[in-house]
Amino acid sequence: MKILVTGGAGFIGSHVVDAYLEAGHQVVVVDDLSTGKKENLNPKAKFHQMDILDDKLQHLLQDEHIEVVNHHAAQIKVKASLEDPYFDVKVNVLGSVLLLDLCRRAGVKKFIYASSGGAQYGEMEKSPFPETHPSRPFSVYGASKVSVELYVDVFAQNFGLEYVLLRYANVYGPRQDALGEGGVVAIFTHGMLHNGDFVIFGDGYNVRDYVYVKDVARANLLALDYAHNDVFNIGTGAGTTTNQLFETLAKATGYSQPPRRTVPRLGDLKKSVLDCAKAKKLLKWEPQYDLASGLKETIDYYNKRL
Ligand SMILES: NC(=O)c1ccc[n+]([C@@H]2O[C@H](COP(=O)([O-])OP(=O)(O)OC[C@H]3O[C@@H](n4cnc5c(N)ncnc54)[C@H](O)[C@@H]3O)[C@@H](O)[C@H]2O)c1
Repeated sequence: MKILVTGGAGFIGSHVVDAYLEAGHQVVVVDDLSTGKKENLNPKAKFHQMDILDDKLQHLLQDEHIEVVNHHAAQIKVKASLEDPYFDVKVNVLGSVLLLDLCRRAGVKKFIYASSGGAQYGEMEKSPFPETHPSRPFSVYGASKVSVELYVDVFAQNFGLEYVLLRYANVYGPRQDALGEGGVVAIFTHGMLHNGDFVIFGDGYNVRDYVYVKDVARANLLALDYAHNDVFNIGTGAGTTTNQLFETLAKATGYSQPPRRTVPRLGDLKKSVLDCAKAKKLLKWEPQYDLASGLKETIDYYNKRL
């Protein structure tokens, strides 16, 4: 298949590109390198440095005869989405809807969308949450993710675009940005190996479902051949507190300083764990990495970059 991966120079998108190429597909990447990096790019993929809002994207989809669009390009910062909602909505909602419209015009068959489980369901009293749980996003970023899912379905109903929506838990692994707002595993691992000091926001009892990026890439591979329009949670179903994560990584990297603690961050949830039984049953996907094996590969990656 010929597949366009938007955001293919980013953390998750670049692993999806690797998995597609390894399975023998042809891959075209569109990325504006706003947070993505050239070094993440697989040299076997054809790369276009381009904003998804650029008019030239339509010609690219047509000229390259793209059959599947896998959409990972996004503004991903939760706090930033509350501070500058216009930018989040412009990239995440408008950019996605325009991309869907281009898919329709270029005759693209299928759309795979990187959605979010944590940002989607909001605060979780009782967890893990299945896909049927009502959406109640707590941030502009989360609301953007939910609304794009609705637009994808609108394009399916009206124009026959096939789709798979993948709602990720907290993804971690090699190539995640260790200096930004997001990936706590990357921030802790990189910082501990550099003997830095840390701030934990809130009491550290926030619970998250950490899923390894190679498992997420495999879900994107299975989504190519999944024949129905559907939505799947992609996580592990296991909850880990920030304090537990800190202690596990400190032990594995030999780091001995205690973290500093400060007030919770804007938009942060207390608990977010996904029920992934549906992906197991229908998509035939389940995580192959537990937290220990995923963290080991992640630490090895940051160690090699020291
Ligand atoms: N990291 C997670 O835990 C997580 C969880 C749920 C969902 N997601 C979703 O997965 C996707 C990838 O996230 P990530 O963690 O790899 O982030 P990332 O920032 O590494 O990747 C995003 C990529 O999109 C590119 N990009 C951003 N705006 C663009 C634009 N206007 N035009 C073209 N390219 C643009 C960036 O340069 C980057 O390469 C996002 O859609 C995100 O919402 C991530």
